[in-house]
Amino acid sequence: MTTFRDNLLAGKTAFVAGASSGINLQIATRLAQAGAAVTILSRSPDKIEAAAQGIRDKGGKCIGVAQDVRDHDGVGAAFAKAVDAHGEIDILVSGAAGNFVAPFNGLSYNGFRAVIDIDLIGLFNVMRQGFPHLRKPGATCITISAPQALHPYPLQSHVNAAKAGADMLVRTLAVEWGPMGVRINAIIPGPIADTEGMARLAPTPEAMEKSARGTPLQRLGTKDEVADLALFLVSDAAAYVTGAIMPCDGGLSLLGVGRVGG
Ligand code: NAP
Ligand code: COA
Repeated sequence: MTTFRDNLLAGKTAFVAGASSGINLQIATRLAQAGAAVTILSRSPDKIEAAAQGIRDKGGKCIGVAQDVRDHDGVGAAFAKAVDAHGEIDILVSGAAGNFVAPFNGLSYNGFRAVIDIDLIGLFNVMRQGFPHLRKPGATCITISAPQALHPYPLQSHVNAAKAGADMLVRTLAVEWGPMGVRINAIIPGPIADTEGMARLAPTPEAMEKSARGTPLQRLGTKDEVADLALFLVSDAAAYVTGAIMPCDGGLSLLGVGRVGG
C-alpha cells in the first residue's frame, strides 16, 4: 500500500542542518523516504556519516557533510558540496541546537553565547548562506523552534532568548522572501520521546513522566509525528502557508510556562 508520503518529493532536493540524530534526522529520513535527494549536516564526521549511511540503507539518496553551523564560511562551503552532489535546493531545514539546564546566574559568557551562536547565529548562517542556492520560486524552509520561544522557562534563559529570536527571524524572512516565491515556517516540538533534548531537560523517569502528563494529550510526542508535520509544510499541500510558527506539542503551548529538570 502506498501512503501520502511516497514519491511526494520525487525530483526534489533537501538540505537538513543538525541532522545526525534525533528529530532532525527523522525529518531528513522522512524527506528521503518521500523521494528527495538529501544532504545532512552536523559537527561530528563519524556521526553524520553514520546517519547518512542509515538513510542510504533505507533506500534514500543522502550525503553527509561535517560542519559546525557557527562557522559562516564553512556553512557556505557545505552548501557548495550539497549543490555539487544534488543540484539547487528545494527544501531547507535548519534545526541544529544546543541545550543544558542552568540558572542565569550560573551562566558564563561562553555558556550563554554557545547557545545563541548555535541556535540563532547558526540559523542566520544556514539561511543567509543557503538562500542563493534555493530554487526560486518554489523553495521552502523550516526551522525547528521550541516551547522556550513562547514562554520564559526558568533555567533556560539562553534557549528562551535564542529560540524567540529565531522565531522572529522566521517571521521576517517570510515577509522578505515571500515576494521571491520562498516560504519559511517554524515547528515547535513539544516533549518528544527518545531525544537528546528530553534526556537533558527531564533526566529521570519521573521527570519524563511529568513532562508527558503535562501536555493536554497526556503523552510524549514521537519523532515521526514531527517529521510528518515537516513533510506537510514542505509539500504543495501547504503552498499558502508561510511565516507560521506551528506547535506539534500535544497542546502544551496552550498551558503557559513549564519547568525543566523534574
Ligand atoms: P539532538 O539529537 O541533539 O539534535 C541536535 C543535532 O544538532 C545533532 O545532530 C547535533 O549533531 C547537531 N548540532 C549540535 N550543535 C551543532 C553545531 N554547532 N553545528 C552543527 N550541528 C550541530 O537533539 P533533539 O532533541 O533531536 O533536538 C533537535 C531540535 O529539536 C533542536 O532544534 C531542539 O531545540 C528542538 N526541540 C527538541 C525537543 C525535544 O523534545 N527533543 C523539543 C523542542 C524542540 P553533532 O553533535 O554531531 O553536531
Ligand atoms: N551549565 C552551565 N554552563 C555550561 C553547561 C552547564 N550544564 N554546559 C556547558 N556550559 C558552558 C561551558 O562551561 C562553556 O563555558 P566556559 O568556557 O565559560 O566554561 C560553554 O558552555 C561552552 O561549552 P563547550 O563545551 O565549550 O561548548 P560546545 O560548543 O563544545 O558545546 C553545548 C555546546 C554546551 C551546547 C553542548 O551541550 C552541545 O554540543 N550540545 C549539542 C547537543 C544538544 O544540546 N542537544 C539537545 C538539543 S535541544
